[in-house]
Amino acid sequence: MRILVAGGAGFIGSAYVHRRLAAHPGDEVRVLDKLTYAGRTENLEGLSRDQVELVEGDIADADMVSGAVEGCDAIVNFAAESHVDRSIHSPGEFIQTDVFGAFVLLEAAREKGIRHLQVSTDEVYGSIPSGSFTEASTLQPSSPYSASKAGGDLIVRAYHHTYGADALVVRGSNNYGRRQHPEKLIPLAILNALAGDPIPVYGDGLQVRNWIFVDDFCAAIDVVLERGQAGEVYNAGGPDELRNIDVVKAILELTGRDESLIQQVSDRLGHDRRYSLSSDRLRELGWEPEVRFDAGLARTVDWYRENEGWWGPIRSGEYRDYYERQYGRALS
Ligand code: NAD
Ligand code: DAU
Repeated sequence: MRILVAGGAGFIGSAYVHRRLAAHPGDEVRVLDKLTYAGRTENLEGLSRDQVELVEGDIADADMVSGAVEGCDAIVNFAAESHVDRSIHSPGEFIQTDVFGAFVLLEAAREKGIRHLQVSTDEVYGSIPSGSFTEASTLQPSSPYSASKAGGDLIVRAYHHTYGADALVVRGSNNYGRRQHPEKLIPLAILNALAGDPIPVYGDGLQVRNWIFVDDFCAAIDVVLERGQAGEVYNAGGPDELRNIDVVKAILELTGRDESLIQQVSDRLGHDRRYSLSSDRLRELGWEPEVRFDAGLARTVDWYRENEGWWGPIRSGEYRDYYERQYGRALS
């Protein structure tokens, strides 16, 4: 099978490519990636050029997509602007990539008659005070990021309903693991703790996220790609829910730092309080998350400790300016 993996140089997309090719050595992957600040060729290191081809390009560019999809049997779309805080400052880029780009990919898949799997997020449902969202829950996105992801999902639905396109959606909860950009809470807290920098906690820190180890989400994506029904949505939630403050405390413990590094900062605008996914539909297809949060977090901390070669260039580059604008203080 030859798969077009859009956004395959990012955090989850690259984990998916590594996992897919390890499990299916006969497959080929073509990665289409714009290589934004979040996409890195380093993320695909260690893979054979016979198996992976990297095409640098924008999913919103129809000519580029039409060339990239040639000879592929399926599209898995990870390509997106993915960070909620950035969407609050620059929503236009999110609409362009996450809505229009998803449409361009879907058009190409429809024209070729191949499967299109849209990788989406629990954030499209909004916040839930108790219980868990099912696939039938109403979409109530809160941020420009989640609204643009919901837009992409709805176009998938319409393409199946109207044209009978072989298109479907998988929605994941908060992923964590190796090669995640330090703009996101877990790698940010790990790297700040290792450096002895304060760790910014938004508001009261009591927001709850449903954490899933990235390899478990990638396994869910494969199950949906292979056994999911066209037109359907599948939730893939992690096995553990934690308050942000408890995530940060666990990282301080694993890095041997004390709680004096915790720094309460202004809350995120429109901040969702809690996410929680029911994954019963995916369980019926045989999927189960395997990595509990404590074990996955320890593995993740070890990976960042051992891979300064990966994060060093990020932490000393443009990210420093982003961090200063976002948090009003410099990194050490
Ligand atoms: P990421 O920001 O690490 O990676 C995104 C990738 O997409 C990068 O390689 C980037 O270069 C590429 N990209 C961005 N705009 C592009 C464009 N216009 N054309 C081509 N490539 C483009 O994101 P991630 O955390 O790996 O998330 C991947 C997908 O999974 C996203 O669609 C996101 O919404 C979804 N998701 C993420 C999480 C999470 O916790 N990180 C959870 C559920 C779903
Ligand atoms: O739920 C899935 C989503 O998870 C994905 O769709 C998104 O692409 C991904 O970025 C993630 O979104 P969140 O906003 O939940 O993740 P983030 O790591 O940005 O923040 C996690 C929580 O931690 C959230 O409640 C905000 C809080 N936070 C975040 C940062 C960066 C802080 O308290 N301090 C911080 O510095």
